[in-house]
Amino acid sequence: MTVYAIIGGTGLTQLEGLTITAALNMDTPYGAPSAPVLRGEYAGREVLFLARHGHPHRIPPHQVNYRANIWALKQAGAEAIIAVNAVGGIHMAMGTGHFCVPHQVIDYTSGRAHTFFEGELDHVTHVDFSYPYDEKLRELLIAALAAEHCEFSSHGVYGATQGPRLETVAEIARMERDGCDIVGMTGMPEAVLAREVSLPYACLSLVVNPAAGKTTALITMAEIERALEQGMGKVKAVLARVLS
Ligand code: HPA
Repeated sequence: MTVYAIIGGTGLTQLEGLTITAALNMDTPYGAPSAPVLRGEYAGREVLFLARHGHPHRIPPHQVNYRANIWALKQAGAEAIIAVNAVGGIHMAMGTGHFCVPHQVIDYTSGRAHTFFEGELDHVTHVDFSYPYDEKLRELLIAALAAEHCEFSSHGVYGATQGPRLETVAEIARMERDGCDIVGMTGMPEAVLAREVSLPYACLSLVVNPAAGKTTALITMAEIERALEQGMGKVKAVLARVLS
């Protein structure tokens, strides 16, 4: 059976219901991951869990050591990764509380350590990234969302921004013209690093606010936290269904 790793994002620094059998304090050639990699049983199945922003939540998106996180999960025996992230909604359909299983990504981040292929290499490598997300994993997530009666979109373009600030109205308008449906700060380089080490990867994105300019109101942390609180129960139910 495939060993899944779950990367928990904002609002998911721990996985209730996970029976922890080991907390692995790992080191990698890229430094330490955000938190110990938890090995345990969830929904009757062996699973790995990593809190992307640490536990407690303390590492902002632009300072996450994505390379260490992916490397540690691979070392710990992960065979596929399900990444959970909170996002802003750009497309009209992406209202607060809506889920999206993105099928494409546009990378607007800058200055992040974004590849394992650097330093002294034997040969230059360019991984194919035409389809950044694993289709089988996406289908599993889509089926689980449907079974849990969640409101969701089975496709979407994830725009990954640098943060930690939120976007301007003009930036979101540009992203919309580019074809982005949702915006978040953690989608890249996580996805490409997983690809570089041949780990199938897909995202479960929860919309926690309308993106900048999508309502007349300004975006508040209180609004985001409320949406996270309301959505995380469903996230856990969807994950349990995927795993079982
Ligand atoms: N923009 C970027 N990242 C986010 C947002 C947003 O509006 N909401 C949650 N993560």
